Amino acid sequence: MTTMTDEKVNPTPILSWNSLNYDVKAKHGVRRVLHDISGSVYPGELVAIMGSSGAGKTTLLNVLAGRVQGGRLYGNIEFNGVKRKPSSFKRLLAYVEQDDLMFAQLSVRETLNTSAQLRLSDKKYSEEEKNERVDSVLRQLRLTHVGDSRIGGGGERGVSGGERKRVSIGVELVTDPSILVLDEPSSGLDSSSAEMVVALTKQMSVERRLCTLMTIHQPSAEMVALFDKIIVLAQGRLVYMGLASQAVDYFASIGFPSTHPNPANFLIDLTTVDFSSDSAMQKSEEHVRLLAETFAKHRDSALLTAKGSFESGVKTDCSQRNVDITPEVAAIALFEPAPMSRWLSEFQILMRREWALSVRNHSLVYGMATEPMVMMLFLGFVFFQLKHDQASVQNRIGALFSLSISCTFAVIIPGMTVIMSARDVVLRERSAGTYRMSSYFFARALCIYPLVYIPYTVMYTGAYFIAHLQYEASKFFIGMANMYAILFASLGFSFAVSMLVKKIEAAHIVTPVTLATLMLFAGNMSHAGAITPVLRWIKYICMYYYAYSGFVQNEFGGLEFECDTSSTLCYRTGEEVIATYGLDEFPIWLCIVLNLVLGVGLYIAAYCLLRWKAKPRYLWI
Ligand SMILES: Nc1ncnc2c1ncn2[C@@H]1O[C@H](COP(=O)(O)OP(=O)(O)O)[C@@H](O)[C@H]1O
Ligand SMILES: [Mg+2]
Repeated sequence: MTTMTDEKVNPTPILSWNSLNYDVKAKHGVRRVLHDISGSVYPGELVAIMGSSGAGKTTLLNVLAGRVQGGRLYGNIEFNGVKRKPSSFKRLLAYVEQDDLMFAQLSVRETLNTSAQLRLSDKKYSEEEKNERVDSVLRQLRLTHVGDSRIGGGGERGVSGGERKRVSIGVELVTDPSILVLDEPSSGLDSSSAEMVVALTKQMSVERRLCTLMTIHQPSAEMVALFDKIIVLAQGRLVYMGLASQAVDYFASIGFPSTHPNPANFLIDLTTVDFSSDSAMQKSEEHVRLLAETFAKHRDSALLTAKGSFESGVKTDCSQRNVDITPEVAAIALFEPAPMSRWLSEFQILMRREWALSVRNHSLVYGMATEPMVMMLFLGFVFFQLKHDQASVQNRIGALFSLSISCTFAVIIPGMTVIMSARDVVLRERSAGTYRMSSYFFARALCIYPLVYIPYTVMYTGAYFIAHLQYEASKFFIGMANMYAILFASLGFSFAVSMLVKKIEAAHIVTPVTLATLMLFAGNMSHAGAITPVLRWIKYICMYYYAYSGFVQNEFGGLEFECDTSSTLCYRTGEEVIATYGLDEFPIWLCIVLNLVLGVGLYIAAYCLLRWKAKPRYLWI
């Protein structure tokens, strides 16, 4: 392989970077995580970033992928010879994260299908072509036999670790990326699965003329043999970048002959910092610095004499395709962002997926269906067949308040759990620009409704008749509408909390505390008209207040009660009860409307939080 032919075959590296420096905040000032790193990679190459733990492999990979957040980044990166544009680069880059973030309840084929449906443009690909692509990816990644198995994970049985990793890769490869990036694809896998993952990645790189970059901690000798190039980092410094086959010779030439049959082990031993004592640490840091400096010098001289032989592209058959394209033309062609699907079709695809996820989550479905039934029996039988004596006044009040409460906790907490459990996958898909957040948001919301509204309708009907609330069709349905309104607001609440709080544990603390506090303003524990003036406004943002007030007015309106001769305090009519509790501030219809308005407000807040607050802010050079 001579320099001249390489230059002709690959005029422009697909990705090149120059003097990358990255600083993060540390306890005492700033810490440099990457020191002056330069390099370039070409289509069709498989490049491994190696080094001991903490060497900066993931950081470098993220910087190159445009996925680094926080800190300060210096240097420049070019994609096809020109500055990268975030939106298009994002779609031409496939990023396979270290943790396989996928939905456990979907099958392998469904997972790939959804990705293909969402990420391949409707204009360019017909339904059939999309399916064909999924089939071919399944075949290429040797996944056809597990196509119909569930992904599993998180306590559910599913495909093996190696297969799961390959699905993660497949999700990215159903599109046509130019660069495939993998963070530790072999971690957690047995050696043969790990080798298979690397071997398949190599095959894909060659076949599709993909540039693949992966970080890898301790590859076997067989894997090293598959790599075209390696980048060796130590303490954030570049100690080697070049052909994998020449690495050992290079180190031997600078006075470090190989000590291990596996080049990877040798390189890691050579570059690991010894933290056992201060003096040992200083010594090994010095050693790393020396290696980095030596390499920099070596590269400079190699560049001067052989012009690029050290880093030039590996010749591949497919790399001929671009022969005559100047950097500018190639850049324009590649920078054209892949068109996304239309909003409606995105929404439909996501609806299908979210619905499958909802109904296949059996504990969720059973839980959300059983809980209202239990509530129905308790509500019905504790307040069994209410009469018209004075005791029934208190019982009615209790029944209606319990009904309002059960429409919040039991809906908000499971809802929140469902929404938040999907968070990581959604964020991954978002980083890849898979779909619009608005279509996801609507699909997710709509898929929760049936799970809540159906059981609650049954619960309400059952409790209504067992407890014998006023048997009047209009009252029955007005009460139902009132319940639907608070359920709507409750779901809005769970969306808002899910988007506001990052961790599910925190959400499980914030929510009950907030709800318990809001309960004080419902008009049951405190008189709605006599709350301390400074806090009185809270009742207007309290879904309990509207719901409870609506239920009480609906049920008590038109009721008459019997008075004992012995009792001094006696309610004669329902209206007296409503007035005593001060629950007639708004008419029933307005209570319903206000809860709907509150709900809409919460959804809007949730959407804004998702759209802007949870948006990742990647550093871009
Ligand atoms: N955002 C950050 N804030 C603080 N420290 C960071 C940050 N990113 C990376 N580091 C530090 O940089 C070093 C390299 O990290 P990383 O790239 O994850 O290493 P590797 O993947 O090689 O094991 C580690 O010591 C890590 O603690
Ligand atoms: Mg890492």
